[in-house]
Amino acid sequence: MKLGILSLLVLAQALQSSAYPWMAGPGAERAYDEMLHRRAEKLEERALLGGVLGGLVTGVGSTAGGVISGVTGALGNLVNGLATGGASNVDASNRFPDVNHPFQAPGPTDQRGVCPGLNALANHGYLPRNGIVTAQQVISATKQVFNMGEDLSGLLCFIAVTYGGNLQTQTFSIGGEDDRTYSGSGIGSKSVSRQFGLDAHSRCEGDSSPTRNDFYLDNGDNHSQQPDRFRRLLALAKQNGGNFDTPTLNALFGQNSQLSIQNNPKYYANGPTLVVILAAYPIIPEFFSNGTYGAGGKATLQNIAPLMGFKINDDGTICAVPEQIPDNWYRRATPYGIANVVANAPGTLAAGNTLPSPLSSIIASGNTNEIGCQLYQLLSSQSPATLGVPLVDGVSTLLTGLQNQLLGGLPTIFGCSGAGNSTVTQPAFDDSLQAKGPGGDQSLTCA
Ligand SMILES: *[C@@H]1O[C@H](CO)[C@@H](O)[C@H](O)[C@H]1NC(C)=O
Ligand SMILES: *[C@@H]1O[C@H](CO)[C@@H](O)[C@H](O)[C@H]1NC(C)=O
Ligand SMILES: *[C@@H]1O[C@H](CO)[C@@H](O)[C@H](O)[C@H]1NC(C)=O
Repeated sequence: MKLGILSLLVLAQALQSSAYPWMAGPGAERAYDEMLHRRAEKLEERALLGGVLGGLVTGVGSTAGGVISGVTGALGNLVNGLATGGASNVDASNRFPDVNHPFQAPGPTDQRGVCPGLNALANHGYLPRNGIVTAQQVISATKQVFNMGEDLSGLLCFIAVTYGGNLQTQTFSIGGEDDRTYSGSGIGSKSVSRQFGLDAHSRCEGDSSPTRNDFYLDNGDNHSQQPDRFRRLLALAKQNGGNFDTPTLNALFGQNSQLSIQNNPKYYANGPTLVVILAAYPIIPEFFSNGTYGAGGKATLQNIAPLMGFKINDDGTICAVPEQIPDNWYRRATPYGIANVVANAPGTLAAGNTLPSPLSSIIASGNTNEIGCQLYQLLSSQSPATLGVPLVDGVSTLLTGLQNQLLGGLPTIFGCSGAGNSTVTQPAFDDSLQAKGPGGDQSLTCA
């Protein structure tokens, strides 16, 4: 089995250079120049919206609950027929947010990015409100509020720190690049490598995401919530009994991946990015439902919308708003970890289409052990693409330490023999493009 995976990985490399020829070169940079101008506009827009939204957003959970049935007009067209009601089997100790963690919209220097769950945790102060976090803070906050398994948060933090953060301090930005993640000197300093945060494209952030546009299709804005994508999610939920359940989210992946294939000449779906994106769909009902999904939990608009950062207005327009935990919401009672992600991935992949990718074939096979080991192999063997320097001793020691600390349990879970194989590498996204993005400012729009 080991040999099989290795030869597939070698094949993977060969296929990737033909499937993604642009990965090698610095092309397509022109589109990003515009971004520098847009950045200033976005900051203004955000400051303006901050005031307006402060008042609006608190109503998201309760408004939707009150008006979800029997409403008429534009709002009714959107929400009538969607599932309502409270969860069953909930336990008071799983209720959030608590009084010490009130919602507060982010300020202009606070980082928010591609992950609605982390944005929500920061908006409630379960993570530092400035959005500059350590791996340990993320692992404990995601466990406390979402009951995410530590193996899964460890893996996600490994990706975030290795590809977008500071290896020395295990700190990263949950949005874009930020001076506050850098160390003054050494491996974590800016002169050694740039730390582009969670928004770093094709590292932590990938194409075909549930509510973010593809990087190339939105002038390099790979991290702002898109009301139109949410509107399509509402329509899919209606077709599916009114529920925001796994089949609904998988259908959304089907639509989004199709859009990427049709419109995005730079669509990239491979490696850890593909796994993160596949995971991003089913985890919405798994983590955002009120109560335990599959055991009395309810994946209703009332919970999904505020946690994903959307508000529906009476006139039927939908606005992106800062993510919020609805009042009186209950987290899942049982942990959800890597084994769950791996078990869900084939179903999500089957609903969509991706470019030819050997990893896709392995996921499609449904062999969970092989998927898990492949993922471990990919993560533990890929050199940190943010490092513009060869793997010098100090860096590889830090990486090995991080790997043991954050990914250590994976080989046992999936029965992988041997440690990650450093002879296997994947092509990295062209880093010269990263710095041209708009920074971590979420652009909150309505549509
Ligand atoms: C969650 O479910 C509980 C128990 O049924 C209910 O009391 C509460 O209002 C629900 N909260 C939300 C935000 O839907
Ligand atoms: C890593 O790959 C090389 C080349 O295929 C192989 O000889 C070696 O045994 C592998 N090591 C592990 C730990 O799997
Ligand atoms: C994605 O967004 C981040 C944050 O704005 C930015 O730093 C990055 O350059 C963007 N694009 C790419 C290709 O990563």
